[in-house]
Amino acid sequence: MRVIVTGGAGFIGSNLIRLLLQQSDICILNIDKLIFQGCYHTIREFDTFPQSRYSFSQTDICEYALLNHLFNDFKPDAVLHLAAESHVDRSIDDPESFIQTNIFGTYNLLKISRNYWKRLDENGKKAFRFHHISTDEVFGSLEKNDRPFRESTPYAPNSPYSASKASADHLVRAWHHTYGLPVTLSNCSNNYGPCQYPDKLIPLMITKAINGEPLPVYGDGLNIRDWLYVEDHACALLEILKHGRIGESYNVGGNCEKSNIEVVNMICNLLDELMPDSPNKPHKNLVTFVRDRPGHDQRYAMDTEKIRNEIGWTPKYNFSGGLRNTVTWYMKNLDWCNAVKYKQYDGKRLGLQQL
Ligand SMILES: NC(=O)c1ccc[n+]([C@@H]2O[C@H](COP(=O)([O-])OP(=O)(O)OC[C@H]3O[C@@H](n4cnc5c(N)ncnc54)[C@H](O)[C@@H]3O)[C@@H](O)[C@H]2O)c1
Repeated sequence: MRVIVTGGAGFIGSNLIRLLLQQSDICILNIDKLIFQGCYHTIREFDTFPQSRYSFSQTDICEYALLNHLFNDFKPDAVLHLAAESHVDRSIDDPESFIQTNIFGTYNLLKISRNYWKRLDENGKKAFRFHHISTDEVFGSLEKNDRPFRESTPYAPNSPYSASKASADHLVRAWHHTYGLPVTLSNCSNNYGPCQYPDKLIPLMITKAINGEPLPVYGDGLNIRDWLYVEDHACALLEILKHGRIGESYNVGGNCEKSNIEVVNMICNLLDELMPDSPNKPHKNLVTFVRDRPGHDQRYAMDTEKIRNEIGWTPKYNFSGGLRNTVTWYMKNLDWCNAVKYKQYDGKRLGLQQL
């Protein structure tokens, strides 16, 4: 099987490619614009695979001609579309690139995929898949006692990021409904694990705590997210690619709701244990509550019955094990954290977390 992965230099994309290279014989073309400075560090390890298994192209998914050429040259059996602008704070400060990449870029990919798919023979047409990776944030915000989001929950995105992802989801559905393109979708909750860019909550708190810097927590710290270890998400994507029903969307989540302050306290406790000689112990003393993000969603939670019953996927990692792996990885890879930075961000809000 030949698969194009868009956004494969990013956090989830790079973990997905690692899994596909190690646990399948799928041949991969990774298409990524490399919006983070130094992010070549993330995918350098894949260069050890022969070019027949893995190749990379630094390309913007908004570039029609280049993308079209890559499709015709590589001849994919499937597309796993992860490329996106993904930082809620950046989407609030500067929504333009989110509209461009997340909506127009997805449209571009759909247009090229459809033209390519139309030219395949009947077997190729049947086997082809376009899988779109999306987020639980498209469903909006839950109150404390609300039932978790289901696949049928109406969309109610609240931030420019989630609105742009919701738009992309709708385009993908429409390309199936109108043109018959064989698509699947998944909406996943918050991921954590190795190689997440250090402006997101968990890596931000780990790296700041190690350096003895204040740990900025939005508002009262009681916003709730569902957390999933990134390797579990990658496994879910592989299973959906193999067994997902065309035209369907699947919720993916860890069944692990935690408030932000709970997560930060767990990180601090782990660092106290793993760095017994740190002058910053107890790390909890570094916590500082800061002004809340505008329009901050209160709670996300996912009902994952459909993927469990239809595909048989459940997460393998529990939160304490996954978080221990993550903290340990960042302690050993501080050089990676210093090397990767978002290229275009003006830093206005840098230092606060994205959720
Ligand atoms: N991180 C999460 O918790 C989470 C949860 C659910 C869904 N998602 C979705 O998963 C996908 C990947 O998220 P992530 O956390 O790995 O994000 P990330 O920001 O780490 O990676 C995104 C990648 O896309 C690339 N990219 C951005 N614009 C591009 C463009 N115009 N052309 C080509 N490449 C481009 C970037 O260079 C980057 O490598 C996104 O679609 C996101 O919406 C993420």
